[in-house]
Amino acid sequence: MSLQPATARAGANIALVKYWGKRDSGLNLPAAGSISITLAELETQTTVAPMADLSDDRLELDGQSADPARIRPVLDRFRARSGVDARCRVETRNNFPTGAGLASSASGFAALVTAADAAFATGLDERGLSIEARLGSGSAARSIFGGFVEMASGTRVDGSDAHASALADAPHWPLEVVVAITTRQAKAVASTEGMNHTMSTSPYYPAWLSGMDADLEQARNAIARRDFEQLVAVTESSALKMHASALAAQPGILYWHAATVACLHEIRSMRLAGTGVCFTVDAGPQVKAVCLPGQGKRVARRLADIDGVEQVVQARLGPGAEVVS
Ligand code: DP6
Repeated sequence: MSLQPATARAGANIALVKYWGKRDSGLNLPAAGSISITLAELETQTTVAPMADLSDDRLELDGQSADPARIRPVLDRFRARSGVDARCRVETRNNFPTGAGLASSASGFAALVTAADAAFATGLDERGLSIEARLGSGSAARSIFGGFVEMASGTRVDGSDAHASALADAPHWPLEVVVAITTRQAKAVASTEGMNHTMSTSPYYPAWLSGMDADLEQARNAIARRDFEQLVAVTESSALKMHASALAAQPGILYWHAATVACLHEIRSMRLAGTGVCFTVDAGPQVKAVCLPGQGKRVARRLADIDGVEQVVQARLGPGAEVVS
């Protein structure tokens, strides 16, 4: 087989119904399902170049040499599948700050497995790519698909049914997203660690899990019917419950800054005044505002005016991961 480099892109995704906790850490199997939207403008581009003469995988992240430890097991699986034992040069670029709560691991692993599948000619379908991406990072399984996406927790011990699938494409309901960046520092507690700690020490974790089926059902229905009121209710509730479970861990995890909370209040007051907008917050201090089509610009202007908001980024819903060359 001739070794051809391949480049793929994948968009970040934002969970409306959050993934928070694993049923198996080794295989990265989520304790419950989740529902997300994939973004067009916030993306990772990754090139995988298998090289006959390299002794180890090499990773360059945003132009800087980085430790390949987290991508090696992913590449090992493509080497095993293809029977081609070549180490790889991997170059990856995010067009948004890494480690700042914008889920760079999601778009990163989705782009990586899509590029690796092309470079090693393994011919996986979207389900297979989603499983490979999940093994890198749970939320990455969702970035294989565009638009509205549901991740299944699955029940099998081998994880073969724990993958994402498409609920609806972006044109079905072209919502907009505004990300308010309140700090560029890397987050204090990474999501893997935060969810493991919450699961093992928070008295609220069982309550979090017990509400998941109802939340997933409500979000699925809201998306199918384009019912923004229902989507607002489940999105804000899921985010607040996730953070409540983390706050109640021992010791508690507090991801929010003052500007985070100010954004949440502003979004609620805009909604009371008639703007179609709601919030969600992941394992970090950034706020993501989910807006009805056409309302993103107005929301971006208001959030940019809040003290402590360093930057706002506007995005639309976009396609799934794809090979670009
Ligand atoms: C809060 O996918 O980063 O963003 O599977 O351990 O890599 P690992 O975790 P990760 O967790 C994402 C958590 C979240 C919610 C979500 O995206 O659903």
